[in-house]
Amino acid sequence: MRLLVTGMSGFLGRSLAHYLIQTSALAAGEVVATCHQRRLPIDGVSPISVDLADQPALLQNLDEVRPRAVIHMAAVSQPNQCETDATGSAAVNVAASTTIARWCARHAKPLVFTSTDLVFDGKQPPYRESAQPNPLNAYARQKVSAEAAIQTYCPNAVICRLPLLFGFGGSEATGFAHEMVIAIAAKRPIRLFTDEFRTPLSTVCAAKALVAALRWPGDIYHLGGTERISRYAFGQRIAAVLGVGDAHLQPITQADLSMAARRPRDVSLNNRKARAFGFAPQDLDAAIREMLFAFGFADADSR
Ligand SMILES: NC(=O)c1ccc[n+]([C@@H]2O[C@H](COP(=O)([O-])OP(=O)(O)OC[C@H]3O[C@@H](n4cnc5c(N)ncnc54)[C@H](OP(=O)(O)O)[C@@H]3O)[C@@H](O)[C@H]2O)c1
Repeated sequence: MRLLVTGMSGFLGRSLAHYLIQTSALAAGEVVATCHQRRLPIDGVSPISVDLADQPALLQNLDEVRPRAVIHMAAVSQPNQCETDATGSAAVNVAASTTIARWCARHAKPLVFTSTDLVFDGKQPPYRESAQPNPLNAYARQKVSAEAAIQTYCPNAVICRLPLLFGFGGSEATGFAHEMVIAIAAKRPIRLFTDEFRTPLSTVCAAKALVAALRWPGDIYHLGGTERISRYAFGQRIAAVLGVGDAHLQPITQADLSMAARRPRDVSLNNRKARAFGFAPQDLDAAIREMLFAFGFADADSR
C-alpha cells in the first residue's frame, strides 16, 4: 500500500518512521512523507518538501502521489505559536486538514488524523470521546475545527486525540521530555508544573496505534496513556529510573509562568474505546526506561 505520511520530519513522525522500518513497510518503498522546514533523510522514505498552507501545491502532491492511505500529522503544534499567528497556523491546522479530508473522501482512501487532548477545558476529567470539547486556546480551537470538517467531509476518517507525547526524536525533533531528560541526568535545576495533569503516551506506542488505526472504523478515539500524572511527577519518575534523586526538580504551578496560550488543568483521557480496537499503551515506567535507553542511558533499559 502506498502510504502518505504528512509531518514525518516532526517529533512523532520520526517514531512513526522507525516503526515503519521495523514492520518492513519502508523496505518495500511504499512510504511517501512530507516535510517543510526540516529535512527527511530516512532510508526508504520518498520525501516531499511542501508547505501545506499552499493549497494548490498540496492538491497537486496528493494527485501525483495518489496514496492508498494517509496519516495526517503535520501541524503547527506549538500552542503559543498558534496564539500569536492564528491565521498562519489555521492555514495548516484547519485548511490543509480539510483539503486532505476532502481528497481522501473523493478517492475513498483511509485517513488517520492526529488531534489533541487539549480540545477539552480540563474541568471534568477523565474525558471520553463523547465529552463536549471546550478549547481554551487557538491551537485547540483549530483542532476542533479540523475535526468537525474532517467528520463532515470524510466520515470514514479516524481521528486520534493524542495526549502529551514523550520519546526520543533525535536532536532535530525534540518533545517536552527532551529538556527534562538532559537536565535531570545532569542534575541541573528544572522547573516543572505540579498542577497540570495529562495521560502521557510514548511516541513509540502512538506511532504503532496510528498505523493500526488505518483499519479502525471512522470515529474519534482517545489514545491516552496508562497514568494520569503531572510534569513534576513525571520528572520524578525519570529521576528514579536514572537513579539520580529528584532534589533538583523545582515544583511550580501554572500561575508562576506567563504564556500566550491558556492551558487546561487536567485533560486526562479515558482510553477504553481505543483499547477495544487493540490499543495497548505501555506501562509508564517501562516506556520511560525505553525512552532513556534511546537517549543513550544504556543501564536504563535493565533497571
Ligand atoms: N507532541 C505532542 O505532545 C502532541 C500531543 C497531542 C497532539 N499532537 C499532534 O500530533 C501531531 C504531530 O506532533 P509533533 O509533536 O510531531 O509536532 P512537530 O514536532 O511540531 O512536527 C510538526 C510536523 O508538521 C510539519 N509542518 C508544520 N508546518 C508545516 C507546513 N506549513 N507545511 C508542511 N508541513 C508542516 C513539520 O514539518 P517541518 O518540521 O519539516 O517544518 C513537522 O513535520 C500534530 O498534529 C500535533 O498536533 C502532538
